[in-house]
Amino acid sequence: MKVVISIGGSILVPDEIDIDYMRELAELTNKLAEEHQICIITGGGRTARKYIEPARRFGASEIFCDLIGITATRLNARLLAAVIGERANLEPPKDFIAALKAMNFGKIVVMGGTHPGHSTDAVSALLAEYINADLLINATDVDGIYDRDPQKHRDARMYKKLSVEQLVDMVKSYPLGAGEYELIDILAAKIIQRSKIRTIFLNGRDLKNMRNAIEGKKFIGTAIENA
Ligand code: UTP
Repeated sequence: MKVVISIGGSILVPDEIDIDYMRELAELTNKLAEEHQICIITGGGRTARKYIEPARRFGASEIFCDLIGITATRLNARLLAAVIGERANLEPPKDFIAALKAMNFGKIVVMGGTHPGHSTDAVSALLAEYINADLLINATDVDGIYDRDPQKHRDARMYKKLSVEQLVDMVKSYPLGAGEYELIDILAAKIIQRSKIRTIFLNGRDLKNMRNAIEGKKFIGTAIENA
């Protein structure tokens, strides 16, 4: 299988760099790579926001802040590639063609952002589309997609399944500011919709659960229904 995994920066760098988590993720990735082609797209997390916020206060434009964010995502990609070791590409691909080349070379592709105007979720969806991936995993620090913010509402309910139309509808009014994306960005949702990419949202901290989802076993998360 070709699997694209979008790892939210909130897991890689919740506050400080979570190197223990990266080690476990690297172990899993190396194991999965024995049977599957794996691409990991790293988010920027706190590192991105730490730099974007002051830049914005000094009047930097949104595209300028996006470029700062992209740098942070690539920094995380470099670190994760180092932890994965020789199976990973050394240089984070800057575009999809370079990513495909690395994949065809037998590498685990580890990359961050590509262009301003979207988040790494869109990069993941576009890469999944480009390589005709069998599965796109969107891993964040929550268990799946809820009917409302689970951090604010204790009675929030998680969807086990959600139609892609509902997903698009949910995210269409979300902000597009640099470092401010929630859930996923609208571009990612539309790419998933147009190419019917098999997509699962889950908690990236639970790596056993992620492995189950990839291996077609029972998992906790939200599966997007793409009729
Ligand atoms: P993230 O993908 O991490 O954004 O990229 P996010 O969703 O806001 O944060 P987390 O990681 O899920 O918590 C960080 C920022 O980098 C810019 C955007 O400004 C984004 O918010 N970026 C990233 C781009 O402009 N283009 C890209 O391809 C990737």
